[in-house]
Amino acid sequence: MEDKINEIIARMEKLLPEAQTAAQVSNITASALGPNGDLTAIMKTIPTLEPKQRPLVGKLINKAKQAIESLAQAAYARIEQARKAEALGERPDITLPSPEVARGTIHPLTQTIRRICDTFKKAGFTVAEATEIDTEWHCFDALNTPADHPARDAQDTLFFPAGLKVENVSKHADELYLLRSHTSTVQIRAMLKEGAPIKIVAPGRAFRRDTVDATHSANFHQLECLCIDKGVRLTDLKAILAYLFKDLFGESAKIRLRPSFFPFTEPSFEVDFMTENLGRLSNRWIEIMGCGLVDPNVLKNVGLDPNEWSGYAFGLGVERVAMLMHSIDDIRHFYANDLRFLRQFAK
Ligand code: DAH
Repeated sequence: MEDKINEIIARMEKLLPEAQTAAQVSNITASALGPNGDLTAIMKTIPTLEPKQRPLVGKLINKAKQAIESLAQAAYARIEQARKAEALGERPDITLPSPEVARGTIHPLTQTIRRICDTFKKAGFTVAEATEIDTEWHCFDALNTPADHPARDAQDTLFFPAGLKVENVSKHADELYLLRSHTSTVQIRAMLKEGAPIKIVAPGRAFRRDTVDATHSANFHQLECLCIDKGVRLTDLKAILAYLFKDLFGESAKIRLRPSFFPFTEPSFEVDFMTENLGRLSNRWIEIMGCGLVDPNVLKNVGLDPNEWSGYAFGLGVERVAMLMHSIDDIRHFYANDLRFLRQFAK
């Protein structure tokens, strides 16, 4: 009996992979499992067997049935795939998802950028971007930071050799190019392009001549915010900051401003925030970013009249926010491509 069953399986193993049409698969399968199939015939003999034998044979038959059914299914799938391939004219359908390839995840920095942008979109801001290679003028001079200004030291970056011309970045022949040291360049580019009023957030890469350690990277991400309108005041800046930190870190989040200096804002402030749900960093002031009211010189540099327009700006370090949100202790984790780290941010 067992031999007979094995023979049937062997026959199916030979015939089903060779079947060319769904009808053939169905006929071959029926020759074993159909009403007149040979496995069915064996099944019908069970009542005539010795009672002890019955469960054993029953088990064998069930196993054989399962094996044949899965062979039939594989054959149907193979034929269906061939049909689809033919319908596509030999070309593989590149839009079909691949069953074998593991799906990637969104990088935690990208997730953080999207999260912050969503917060701003709810408040009526649009997302702007600009080039990572920019001119000295957009990065410094237009932002009220002339060549001899000491603030340039803190933002030392990579300059390209003089005389280089980068397409679509500058219209002037003799400008120096650099890797932008902050995303504040986008303020200038956005105002030159769109004028005022304007409400933008600009996420992107920035570059510094920094020695890499747990909290510094020569290549990092910032998110710049700029709002220019008529009669924008410090209270508007405080309101958007309070909203931002509550939205990101929960209702208990509070902010405070401390006087500071940036060439492109007057007055300028450092922002600290405090919240109840940040583990060991809870309930203490954490320095997080710089901000201020846009310096009238910056407005003049992009052709806006400071008597008509005013606004606020700030720049937020994306890595810093992501590290606080997820208790990440070393900035280098973001760039090491270690899947054990990245998988923790899979959704
Ligand atoms: N650009 C500054 C930096 O990279 C950050 C910053 C400070 C941006 C104050 C601003 C601002 O827009 O108002 O250090």
